[in-house]
Amino acid sequence: MIELHSVSKHFGGAAAVEDFSLRIEAGALCVLVGPSGSGKSTVLRMINAMIEADQGKIELRGQDIRSLDPVLLRRGVGYVIQSVGLFPHWTIRENIAAVPRLLDWSDSKVSARIDEIVALLQIEPSLLPRYPRQLSGGQQQRIGVARALAADPDIILMDEPFAALDPLSRANLQEELRRLHARSGKTIVFVTHDMDEALLLATNMAVMHKGRLVQSGAREEILLHPVNDFVRDFFGREAMQFRLLDIVPVRARMKRRWVGAAETIAAGASLKQALNLMLARRCARLRVEDESGARLGEIDIADIIAGGHER
Ligand SMILES: Nc1ncnc2c1ncn2[C@@H]1O[C@H](COP(=O)(O)OP(=O)(O)O)[C@@H](O)[C@H]1O
Ligand SMILES: [Mg+2]
Repeated sequence: MIELHSVSKHFGGAAAVEDFSLRIEAGALCVLVGPSGSGKSTVLRMINAMIEADQGKIELRGQDIRSLDPVLLRRGVGYVIQSVGLFPHWTIRENIAAVPRLLDWSDSKVSARIDEIVALLQIEPSLLPRYPRQLSGGQQQRIGVARALAADPDIILMDEPFAALDPLSRANLQEELRRLHARSGKTIVFVTHDMDEALLLATNMAVMHKGRLVQSGAREEILLHPVNDFVRDFFGREAMQFRLLDIVPVRARMKRRWVGAAETIAAGASLKQALNLMLARRCARLRVEDESGARLGEIDIADIIAGGHER
């Protein structure tokens, strides 16, 4: 869906991105993570044809982006940035409608789409006639996401979109994004320097350092097998096992056995939630159920501890 082949970009002789290759499958939520200055935004801007790579090739939906009109390319890709970038003299409604208007959608189609997007992102309809300055930062950010989604692009690029938000708005929008991604099957490239955000959202992760790709793959893979000390340190050596508890589901460690446990946990819950429940109820074993309440098996505290190195 999105492929970067040995892409490099220099600014005044200094490499911002160096020999960067990555394949992002359709429907992935790929999180580009790395410290500030590691080249994440530059990668995103190159995918969006806002800046051109010095070397290498970028393909979008199988097409070399150099063969595409950059303006048309950008209309087909949703782009969300931290500073939102809403047009200050346009109402919220006009802001959301910006790309559909550029694409010459009819008034009725634009109107129907706005209704849809407002419901999807749980935007208070009374905000629509207002101007951006009359909204809180969290509300503006939500509108920024709405605007990027309005024309229903199959690719969405997000550059630290939630970085400036208070923790509650941030958690809300992260949850919203996860739901939206799971339902829509869109391809999302999400940039962040926040490891917890990366682990929460990613289906795939790409770790950058000094313009280079250091490691890419599934979250668990990177947590369990960091390729070097940079990745290990970036994930916070000591906290690594705790982070794993957060992302590995009970389903992955439960056993089909029936010793008899009093407390119940959902198969989709995290190991951290399981451990928390064990600690709260002072028990070492939980009964595991699926969404419909059917008994699947049990998870024992030993399953959690023993599982740390398996694969
Ligand atoms: N337009 C630019 N002109 C000069 N240097 C730039 C420009 N954009 C980015 N850089 C430099 O490239 C490097 C990578 O930047 P960036 O991609 O913004 O990193 P990140 O998004 O990971 O923080 C940094 O050293 C930055 O200073
Ligand atoms: Mg950046």
